[in-house]
Amino acid sequence: MTKHGELIVITGASRGIGLALVNRFLDAGFPVLAIARDTASTKAHDNLTTLDADLAGRAGIARVSDRVAALGLPVAVLINNAGVQNAIDLTGPQIANPECPDLIRDEIALNLTAPILLALALLPFMLRPDGTIVNVTSLVSRQPKPSAPVYSASKAGLASFTQALRVQLRSQGVRVVEAVPPLVDTGMTSGRGKGKISPEAMADAILEGVANQRQTVAPGLSRRVLVLNRLLPELVRRILARS
Ligand SMILES: NC(=O)c1ccc[n+]([C@@H]2O[C@H](COP(=O)([O-])OP(=O)(O)OC[C@H]3O[C@@H](n4cnc5c(N)ncnc54)[C@H](OP(=O)(O)O)[C@@H]3O)[C@@H](O)[C@H]2O)c1
Repeated sequence: MTKHGELIVITGASRGIGLALVNRFLDAGFPVLAIARDTASTKAHDNLTTLDADLAGRAGIARVSDRVAALGLPVAVLINNAGVQNAIDLTGPQIANPECPDLIRDEIALNLTAPILLALALLPFMLRPDGTIVNVTSLVSRQPKPSAPVYSASKAGLASFTQALRVQLRSQGVRVVEAVPPLVDTGMTSGRGKGKISPEAMADAILEGVANQRQTVAPGLSRRVLVLNRLLPELVRRILARS
């Protein structure tokens, strides 16, 4: 990774893992474009540009590419980190809610469609060679969590897309990384789970993975679960089903 005149684009940048990533990349001396629907929580910094955009819609994606074009810097790293996890039970009373289909569509749009469209929109701006796209997936991309079926499906889709894109972009010198967090102590996991790592620890793992050109970033428990899933997928399926 080089620093000067190369942009880091981070989605989901207003809190949790994304905000920690913003702070780590700024500390490391990079210009950062931080995107969320409300970026007011980010602290002003000479190297920081913020953009309030809803990435569940195409207009939000277009605003990101317009801003990147206006900044005029090659994109060294795009981190598709924004995500939402909804508990959805297709047998429960929730499905009678007329807003349920929109909730489901928006969850897929943010978790799966937005990273694909952002890769498409920002590829013309990516540093070549040596640009990197990081897609933040989840362990439930490997075995689903039944209480969050749409989230699990969207992350499985993103993990698959990540592998295919890696092959497509190899000849252009753009690397594609999958980041698989373990449980991280953020708003998304508030009130549940034990043994969480901090968002800063997850951000450090992503920085290290990008700098060392890793294909997969899986700190802490994640790496062990990924290995176990290759050996004993049924066991992991049962464990994640209880999470
Ligand atoms: N926390 C974990 O244990 C864990 C585990 C595995 C994977 N992950 C993944 O890691 C990523 C970050 O998770 P996190 O725990 O840091 O989540 P978080 O604290 O809930 O933050 C989510 C971020 O996404 C942004 N966001 C939500 N809806 C958006 C929209 N429609 N358009 C644009 N931005 C939107 C939020 O900002 P605004 O609300 O301001 O838009 C926020 O910055 C997610 O992809 C998640 O699936 C997390």
